[in-house]
Order: sequence, then C-alpha cells, then structure tokens
Amino acid sequence: MEPLIFEKSRSGRRAFSFPPLDVPERPLEELIPQQYLRTEPPELPEVSELELVRHYTRLSQLNYAIDIGFYPLGSCTMKYNPKLNEAVAALEGFQHAHPWQPEDTLQGALRLMYELGEMLKCIVGLPGVSLQPAAGAHGELTGVLMIRAYFQHRGELQRRRKVLIPDSAHGTNPASAAIAGFEVVTIRSNEHGRIDCRELERHLGDDVAALMLTNPNTLGIFEREILLVERLVHESGALLYMDGANLNALVGLVRPGDMGVDCVHINLHKTFSTPHGGGGPGAGPVCVAESLLPYLPVPRIVYRNGRYELDEDAPHSIGRVHSFFGNFSIFVRAYAYIRMLGAEGLRRVSHDAVLNANYLLSRLRGVYEQPYPETPMHEFVLSAAHLKRFGVRTMDIAKRLLDYGFHAPTVYFPLIVPEALLIEPTETETRETLDAFADALIAIAQEAQQQPEVLRSAPHRTPVRRLNDALAARRLDVAWGRAALGATPASLEAHSTTA
Ligand SMILES: Cc1ncc(COP(=O)(O)O)c(C=O)c1O
Repeated sequence: MEPLIFEKSRSGRRAFSFPPLDVPERPLEELIPQQYLRTEPPELPEVSELELVRHYTRLSQLNYAIDIGFYPLGSCTMKYNPKLNEAVAALEGFQHAHPWQPEDTLQGALRLMYELGEMLKCIVGLPGVSLQPAAGAHGELTGVLMIRAYFQHRGELQRRRKVLIPDSAHGTNPASAAIAGFEVVTIRSNEHGRIDCRELERHLGDDVAALMLTNPNTLGIFEREILLVERLVHESGALLYMDGANLNALVGLVRPGDMGVDCVHINLHKTFSTPHGGGGPGAGPVCVAESLLPYLPVPRIVYRNGRYELDEDAPHSIGRVHSFFGNFSIFVRAYAYIRMLGAEGLRRVSHDAVLNANYLLSRLRGVYEQPYPETPMHEFVLSAAHLKRFGVRTMDIAKRLLDYGFHAPTVYFPLIVPEALLIEPTETETRETLDAFADALIAIAQEAQQQPEVLRSAPHRTPVRRLNDALAARRLDVAWGRAALGATPASLEAHSTTA
C-alpha cells in the first residue's frame, strides 16, 4: 500500500526551491497584519521531486478508469471518450476564452453553443433548448421549475401540487420535484417493469402538474406504452417530463418530441461523451416543447443580423440556472462528438449499446435471475437473491469482481429489485471484453455456491481490502495531522485488512 506523502516526509528535503532573492527582503509583518501570521511553519510534506513524482504516479495507477478497463456501472454510461474531444476542448481559443469577454470576441464560442443547441433540438425533436444546467439532476430541476412557472402563469399552481414518478425512476427525479416544491407521488411498475397505466390513470387528476418518466427506465426497459401515457397525461391537463439521461439507447432511432414529451433533459456527460467518473463536471441541457418555450432560462443564445448574441428579453423566463453559459468545455466535447459521428454514427451508438447489453444478458441469463424478463435496451438488471441461501449478497459479488479486474456494476439499484445488479456495458466495448466479464460473473456464481467465504471476504487482490462504507461516511476522516501518523482511519477499522 502506498504510504501518505506525509509519511514519506524527511526534514529538509525539497522538490523545488526558489533562487536567492535579488531584491531586498522585507519583513512579513510589513505585508500581512501580525494577527494573520503563523506562529509555526505549516506541516507540509518535505520530499524530493522524484519521490513526489513516484508518489502521485503510483496513486494514479491505483485508480480505476474507463481507459484502464471495463466499467459497466449501470445508469452511468461509462463509455470510452474519444481523445479527439480532449484535443478539441484543449484548443487555446476555447480553453482561454473568458465569459466576461465582449460578445464580439466570443463569436466562435457562442456559435458552438448555438449550433450544439440546434443539434440537440434536432436529436430530440423539440423546438427549445437551454444548455445551462450543469448535470442531469440540474436539468430535471430546471425542467420542473419551468413546469411550475407554466402552471403559475395559468393560475393553476395552487391546485396542481403533485408530480407523479414511477418507482423505476432515477432517484434524482423525486428529489428535483420535491426541491421545486411539488408533492411526489410514486406510481407502481407492472410485472413487465413498465409504468402501470391503470395506476397512472387512477392518480391523474386536476391536482397533478406532471409525470416524470425515465425512458428507457432504470430497468433498461423501453416504456412501450409511451403514446398512451402521453395521451392520459395531456388529457388530464398535466405535462410530460422525460428523463432523457438514457438517450444512448434512443439517439438516432426515436425522438422524445415525437412521443409528445413537453420537456426532456439530456446528460451530455453520458450520451455525448465526457470523462465523468468521480462526479463531474457534466452538463444536463433541457429541451422543451412549444408550451414551455417562454419559461426557458436566460440568457438565450440567438443568431441575429449575422452575429451571435445573448438575449435576456424573456419576461416569463425562470431566469438563470447557472453562472455565465454553463459548463462550456463539456459543450465542446459534445459538439466534437456529435460532429465526428454524424447522424449515421449516432444511430450506430444506439444500435451497439442495445446489442451489447442484449449479448451480455444472453450470456448471464440463467446464471443470475432476471426479475423482469423483457428484452432490454442499453442496460439490464439481474438479481443475486437466489445466492442469499449460500450467505452471499450482491455486495460480495461486486467486491469479488474487483479481484477479476473489473469495476462492479451498479448494485442495489433500482430499488424495486432485491439484490440488484444494474449492468450497462455501453456501445464502446468489444465482444471479447463482454465475454471476459460474463466469464467472471459466471465463475463468481459458481464460487458463491462452492466457496462462499471467498466472496464474503473479497476483494483479495486490491491495495485496500473491504472498507466499512458506513463508518467511512459517518466518521469521515480526510484530514491529516501529526497525531494521525500510524492511526487507522475509521473506514478501515471494522473488517478491513490492507494487502
Ligand atoms: C436516468 C438518469 N437520470 C438522471 C441522472 C442524474 O444525472 P446527474 O448525475 O448528471 O445529475 C442519471 C445519472 O446518471 C441517470 O442515469
């Protein structure tokens, strides 16, 4: 295990030193008021440049990343991100652009955002867009705030207090609706893993503002009855919000606008590539139908008289949801990705995502339970509930996968599946990789029955063995002090051994 850099510290070692001063030295007190000056030097690590380089290089090698191996984290679309995008995002003109620059000197950046917006509108088949939201959940909140503004404008907000959300939705959906001040009502899925339309009909009424539907849903299943759902929702006077974060199953094949959706958010950092492990940064643009156009955030980027401008003139807008334009460098990556693939390439994304998921499922069906035996789209859910009788839980399988060199899938989600494994291979993996992953999961299922202890005590081959997640969260210990030298962090205390 790599020690902390503080543990490598030896007094007097330096990685870098300043040359001797060639100007007269002034006492610090002249520059900084006495009360702000340290009385003791900070406890910074003292290491040589080589040790510094080795330390961080080793740490980086302990990381797991999509550029190292398969990352089937369901619902996250951890696909390969073409290096071309990085090169384009690093172009000097993009990298050094400043949002306070006058519009005239930002024409290229504004054009890129305008054109990206146009492409997204075309992809989802809706007439309005805002690129501002910084993540999928932020896009949802923006969408729900627009829905709120829509009903406020019509004088119906007092009455329409509810947002309906299926139990297969992403957890951010109810959170977004609640933050926007709505009461969340859960709609049950049917035995096929789709929204139960009878249940939906029972809940729809003049107190409902919207249905938030993830499509394909978090079971990876396409909501086939979407046109019926759309009719029921609109007949009741409510609006239809679609969580479009799973768009890599649909892009180029169907358009949310054609399904009658009023608002959809897109996770650029999933569908249109961006390295997004570790939580960001991302971008969650929203696209809207005619009904919600007046409420889109400002400023809006418009093309007028041969130049790109920022338009603030929208009296019903919900206002800004992000400083400046949003996460610009993510727009550059998405733009490069869409332009690189073109219409045909994007269609291929969906085909390959669905093909890969179905191929992997065909290898694992029968070894693990498939709680909703439907043909999935870009991801699928298995359950390891049948292995509980050997004392093995899904968490043990996830940890054992690390020993086989794979990142684990999403586990215990969606919540409606006991002992769930949500597997999303993505469109960028080869058949050999899918086979190797399937072989590992099949071998683990055998181990579960023959030597369950190997799973319960996994992982065995990682630098740090199994952590106590609960302690790590409750007694978070990320600060170093001299007293911490040699002490065991809380997260390691319970049942972890370091290899
Ligand atoms: C279906 C779905 N909706 C919403 C989100 C939330 O997106 P973000 O994590 O960018 O907030 C995700 C995230 O992966 C998702 O998969």
